[in-house]
Amino acid sequence: MSKSFYVTTPIYYVNDVPHIGHAYTTIAADVIARFKRLQGNNVFFLTGTDEHGQKIETTAEANGMTPIELADKVVTRFQDLSGLLNITNNDFIRTTEERHKISVAEIFRRVEEAGDIYLSEYEGWYDVRNEAFITETQLEEIMTIPEDKRPIIEKVKEESYFFRLSKYQEPLLEHYKKHPEFVQPGYRLNEVARFVEGGLRDLSISRTTFTWGIPVPGNSDHVIYVWFDALTNYITGVGFPDNEEMFKENWPADVHLVGKDILRFHAVYWPAFLMSAGIELPKTVFAHGWWTVEGEKMSKSIGNVVDPYQVVEEFGADVFRYFLLREIPFGQDGDFSKSAIIARVNGELANGLGNLVSRTLGMIEKYFDGKVPVAGDLNSDDANVRDKAFTMVDIFEREMDEIAFHKALVALWDYIADVNKYVDESAPWTLAKEENQERLGTVLWTIVQAIGVVTILIYPFMPESAEKIWERLGSQDPINSKILSDTKDWGIIQSGQTVEKGQSLFPRFEDS
Ligand code: MSP
Repeated sequence: MSKSFYVTTPIYYVNDVPHIGHAYTTIAADVIARFKRLQGNNVFFLTGTDEHGQKIETTAEANGMTPIELADKVVTRFQDLSGLLNITNNDFIRTTEERHKISVAEIFRRVEEAGDIYLSEYEGWYDVRNEAFITETQLEEIMTIPEDKRPIIEKVKEESYFFRLSKYQEPLLEHYKKHPEFVQPGYRLNEVARFVEGGLRDLSISRTTFTWGIPVPGNSDHVIYVWFDALTNYITGVGFPDNEEMFKENWPADVHLVGKDILRFHAVYWPAFLMSAGIELPKTVFAHGWWTVEGEKMSKSIGNVVDPYQVVEEFGADVFRYFLLREIPFGQDGDFSKSAIIARVNGELANGLGNLVSRTLGMIEKYFDGKVPVAGDLNSDDANVRDKAFTMVDIFEREMDEIAFHKALVALWDYIADVNKYVDESAPWTLAKEENQERLGTVLWTIVQAIGVVTILIYPFMPESAEKIWERLGSQDPINSKILSDTKDWGIIQSGQTVEKGQSLFPRFEDS
């Protein structure tokens, strides 16, 4: 069996309910997964929750719960996100599951066997919010942040197991050099490489001051550092260590999607752990940017945290999905606002795509009794609509393979604009008046083929709308049975299919 395409999201902490940051990565991963399936790949798509660590223990305590009670309660909010946003993950992993404990113990054992773990004492600073050990230089930076915005830093001194991260400085730098695609976007690779060149100190990978974690094999006074535990989810999810067949089919991951704030853990620590354990490295770690909200940093204290459930209630899942991936280049920061969503809905979805579909299907109902007409000979304008489609599909595919969602969408919407222009210029309403049935049929047939191609391509981004359009086109096979090469079959929407104009696909919104 050929290797699957394996895509992951970070696993989310259960001390907080989902917000736009979580929805963003999960939607991006879903669009990649759906697109890769469209290309004909077997896909494995994993998401889940990160349930151990000091932060969860403290939050649970503050709420009068045990950590597992807190996790059991919050995890459902993350699991329900899949239904809400039409996410097609193959599995959902929780780090408190037995399979994961076995997996973490096994990778720990392998790293230990490689001679990369030793017992010593850790003395230094710990950032509780980010579950990260802090160097003196980082501490100096943190101290420049105003006190009320500063992360909670604790001085810790305790016995700890260490991972020989320093040993992997050169191997990591070599890996970045040999595989520049390992960290994307490219400018992030430089950041990571500079960090590693600055020198790597051995990493404390166990704690003794709290108990909510996976015990160190052979010494249960220690729990394993939450990032060592969390990163391992990516191999647990595909069968490590016991299901060799599944593991072989899916590992190494093709892409780990992460936010820019957790890139270091994924591009430095994780590959070092894997090298030590003798496990292949993931092919790419892609770091995306952060959303601000109406120009401000999103934070609980400001009270501007975007709840995905509310956005979906107001605009629907498809609009939310489209907006997040169209608004900013994947990798860069951007701003979330209702007026920006509304501008995209009204301009691109309602006027661009919605209008094209509804006027075309409306004309077929009116002039051809709802049956897709037969095409006569194509003139150069008609052939141009076809040839442009083929070129656009190639660009779309190339941009999607680069995880440049917005560029893929721009190419697609430029094409939609071209087709709308072709409609205006061919003026089917005039042809109808002139009773030029053959030419009228050819033009409408051509537009319908263009809509067919567009519908297949929007499916990864807006699955509900694509399904709806596909049904209105009167196609018998479900849209998810289509593959990318079907877009090169000019004639995929067959003459005689019964179309239905239906209600407006993307109602316009008033911007107050
Ligand atoms: N549990 C760790 C990840 C472990 S992966 C082995 C974690 N969890 S988290 O719940 O705090 O964050 C998850 C993701 O949300 C991160 O990728 C982070 O970048 C992302 N975001 C948090 N706020 C965000 C925005 N305002 N905008 C975009 N993404 C943001 O970290």
